[in-house]
Amino acid sequence: MKIKVKNDLSNISQTDTVVVFLDEENIKQLDATGEVRGNVLVEKSDISFFFGAAGEVTAVSRKDGANLILCGLGEHTKINREKIRNSAAAVTGFCRSGKISSVSIVVPQLGNLKDEDVLLSVAEGLMLSDYSFDKYKSDRSRDIHLDKVVFYTELSGASAILKEALIVAENTYFCRDLVNDTTNEINPVDFAKLAKKISSASGMKCTVLDEKAIKKKNMGLLLAVNKGSDVPPRFVIVEYKGNPSSKKTIGFVGKGITFDSGGMNLKPGGSMGTMRMDMAGAGTVLSIVKTASELKIKKNITAVMPLTENMLSSSAFRPGDVYTSYNGKTVEIGNTDAEGRLILADALAYMEKELKPDVIVDMATLTGACVAAFGETVAAFLSEDDSVASVLESSAEITGEKLWRLPFYEDYDDRMKSDAADLNNMSSEKNAGTIAAAVFLRNFVEKTPWAHVDIAGTAWYSKARGYRPKNATGYGLRLMIDFIKEWK
Ligand code: BES
Ligand code: ZN
Ligand code: ZN
Repeated sequence: MKIKVKNDLSNISQTDTVVVFLDEENIKQLDATGEVRGNVLVEKSDISFFFGAAGEVTAVSRKDGANLILCGLGEHTKINREKIRNSAAAVTGFCRSGKISSVSIVVPQLGNLKDEDVLLSVAEGLMLSDYSFDKYKSDRSRDIHLDKVVFYTELSGASAILKEALIVAENTYFCRDLVNDTTNEINPVDFAKLAKKISSASGMKCTVLDEKAIKKKNMGLLLAVNKGSDVPPRFVIVEYKGNPSSKKTIGFVGKGITFDSGGMNLKPGGSMGTMRMDMAGAGTVLSIVKTASELKIKKNITAVMPLTENMLSSSAFRPGDVYTSYNGKTVEIGNTDAEGRLILADALAYMEKELKPDVIVDMATLTGACVAAFGETVAAFLSEDDSVASVLESSAEITGEKLWRLPFYEDYDDRMKSDAADLNNMSSEKNAGTIAAAVFLRNFVEKTPWAHVDIAGTAWYSKARGYRPKNATGYGLRLMIDFIKEWK
């Protein structure tokens, strides 16, 4: 998408396809011939069938030959950033199905929102929705995208806002592509190679531990999960130093199961079909450091990605086995399909001990229980640290990448006990599965402020919704970029 900013609304060319956003009150107030903005005129008679409902889109050919696309924003008092994003996404959808690849956007001015937030939200909605995963399609020529967008706005900082929005959108595409891609294309070894490649392109330090190095570090849980796979594990560390003079570092850990068959506790076929997405945590944290480096954010960020397949074979780890984690705690395997918490346990303990960040956030497609509780719209998170929690919550509000805090009382600790070892990876109680997984993980973080974010529902959509496409959504990238900026 090529972007331009123009300040002079009176200069809008008659040959452009002009997009105008209108809320329900605008429509009611419009005179017989109303001047909406600049010289963009909309005649009431043209729009008698348009009500301005959120996401409502219609094309109008004015009598003077100009082409308009009208997009509704709904009730004026209920407009927020997310509604603007989703309405703008409806414009993208309209253009793509109508084979329109070039538009001029009249950026609306809304009393209750700052102009820069409105501009950013319109841009995010347009950009984030213009996505398709077509790598394996032979004929891509029929899929139209918005190639050229001109933003008409008087806002002085518009170019900088749009430049940043484009970087974030491109990285959201990067993340989606990575998560959508197939297991024969992205296995742990491929993922590590990609991390190396993008790190050297962005001037970041990338360390890849291979199987031998992982053994040397005694990451017994990552190795246990890997036992059934012909592909070796990888442990990837990417470090971005945006503030080299500071010792402070934000640490991200991402679950990197490139395929989750369930192992010996094999998943039923229906729920295995999408399990290439089980590396979305790793894909997202890699995208986060990459984005931070491209935005040149003045913070230090370290991303850690434990990577393996969870496969079934004669050499696979089995229920009843006991393995020793990086921090020395022993774990009885109650269920081989609860593999995510195992590799995260090694990664969290390693991160705290060897990389010493000030705060740790892990992202993982960890539990089906999270999808059952929140659906695909909201992620679950758990943290004992109120300051981490409140920054995450405010970033979620701003970015529309929603999350919800779950209780983390010590009362839950009992259920992860084992007769044979220090811990069992399977809860002794059926209910509250998302909390149980986090309770297991807290045995591997000693003192660093930490939040666990379960993205099992939000990382992968069973259908498109607003600006988020079907399948990989890239959820959490914008959330965490905002978190990084706001974390003191
Ligand atoms: N990768 C799955 C969780 C998952 C489920 C992600 C649905 C996305 C959509 C995870 O490894 C898993 O299998 N979890 C089990 C844990 C159980 C065995 C304690 C689950 O949630 O059923
Ligand atoms: Zn699993
Ligand atoms: Zn899994």
